Amino acid sequence: MQVLASRIQSRSALVGVIGQGYVGLPLALVFAEAGFRVVGFDVDAAKVSVLTRGECYIKHIDPERVRSAVASGTYHATSDFDRLSDCDAVIICVPTPLGVHREPDNSFIHATARQIAKRLRPGQLVVLESTTYPGTTEGEVLPILLESGLKCPDEFLLAFSPEREDPGRRNFTTKNTPKLVGGINATSTQIAAALYGACLERVVEVSHARVAESAKLLENIFRSVNIALVNELKMILDRMGIDVWEVIRAAETKPFGFMPFYPGPGLGGHCIPLDPFYLSWKAAERGEWARFIELAGEINSRMPRYVIERVGHALNQDSKALKGARVLVLGLAYKANIDDDRESPSYEMLELLREAGAHVDYCDPFFPVMPKTRKHDLGLRSVACAPDTFARYDVLVVSTGHDCFRSAELYAGARLVVDTRNIFPALFPGGGGPRVVKA
Ligand SMILES: NC(=O)c1ccc[n+]([C@@H]2O[C@H](COP(=O)([O-])OP(=O)(O)OC[C@H]3O[C@@H](n4cnc5c(N)ncnc54)[C@H](O)[C@@H]3O)[C@@H](O)[C@H]2O)c1
Repeated sequence: MQVLASRIQSRSALVGVIGQGYVGLPLALVFAEAGFRVVGFDVDAAKVSVLTRGECYIKHIDPERVRSAVASGTYHATSDFDRLSDCDAVIICVPTPLGVHREPDNSFIHATARQIAKRLRPGQLVVLESTTYPGTTEGEVLPILLESGLKCPDEFLLAFSPEREDPGRRNFTTKNTPKLVGGINATSTQIAAALYGACLERVVEVSHARVAESAKLLENIFRSVNIALVNELKMILDRMGIDVWEVIRAAETKPFGFMPFYPGPGLGGHCIPLDPFYLSWKAAERGEWARFIELAGEINSRMPRYVIERVGHALNQDSKALKGARVLVLGLAYKANIDDDRESPSYEMLELLREAGAHVDYCDPFFPVMPKTRKHDLGLRSVACAPDTFARYDVLVVSTGHDCFRSAELYAGARLVVDTRNIFPALFPGGGGPRVVKA
């Protein structure tokens, strides 16, 4: 493994990153920018051809980074998995979705491990980054890699290092977010830490891959549970006529022992709505019940339905029914100012509104055409983000707090708004504007 260590140190190691999505692409670019040669592998030929042209298909990544990495020859994308045998380090960033019954789906990890095993050669390091339950790296990836006939740590190394990407965040990027690394043995930890240490600002070694796997889940469960807590408080305080947003602002003034979380129309993104269930599923295998995870999931997944109930109630006060009402949902992305719609609660709200007989549209400049997702296919196109368009609807439902929705003029002709993101108090600080119901 001395050869691998010195290739990492001299940055002559070839780094392969499997999966060029929200996690894998920025990671590949960070390695390329640190002076490594990088191969980005993906099964999606369309993504590979965009990246090969030096273009970027993820809006919040600066396209200039892809252009210059391709132009300098430090990065290239491919679907040719035979190139895996050229790589000194192979990092796996493939999806880990949930099945229809919320059961973990590690099939992408298994398929990728098999691709690597077929070509594994002595002196290689394999790192899993995909979020998964504790024990996956050692219990599922290792046995597949051992089918190569090679031994770990004598002939190859294996570690887990979770990704902490937060799409759209500017102050913490792949490069300056501390990176946890845990190998299935000490040599794997040490060499994987050296690899990441060559391009990231801070690497934190833990005693084993299973600790790193668990730490990632703790981070996401922490968010899911706390978001569920404020969502529940929102519903309770609303019944008491108290504004949860003002309560959070007040509690936030405590300089210790409190951390604000904000309510919303439901969880979105690739991580928080899905990852906690990887642990609850695994816990059941040991006869344990992850009650906080299940309860948070129940509350958070109820949120889109709660918002639609509030829309119906608000229309009722105008002597209108949801059936036949013209409803515009503002925002398809799961969070502000990004083009990521994965698990976005806007889809469920649009479907619930349609089911109730409303005429629905959406507005989101990040999605001119509504993508067909695994679960939803509504076949809509975004309407214009303009005052005369907004004025045509009986009610506007703010689902995403995009900056483009934060302009008072847009709502000049609007009558009723259901605001799940609390954007309206700042738009009309002195009062005025449409009737606003918080949800
Ligand atoms: N997006 C985030 O913010 C985030 C943050 C932390 C962790 N994660 C975790 O990172 C992992 C990847 O997430 P992502 O957001 O990058 O997903 P993504 O869907 O954006 O990207 C995954 C990529 O892998 C490709 N792919 C699928 N199967 C493949 C295979 N067999 N070989 C090669 N490529 C394959 C897909 O075409 C896609 O481009 C997941 O486990 C996720 O939970 C994501």
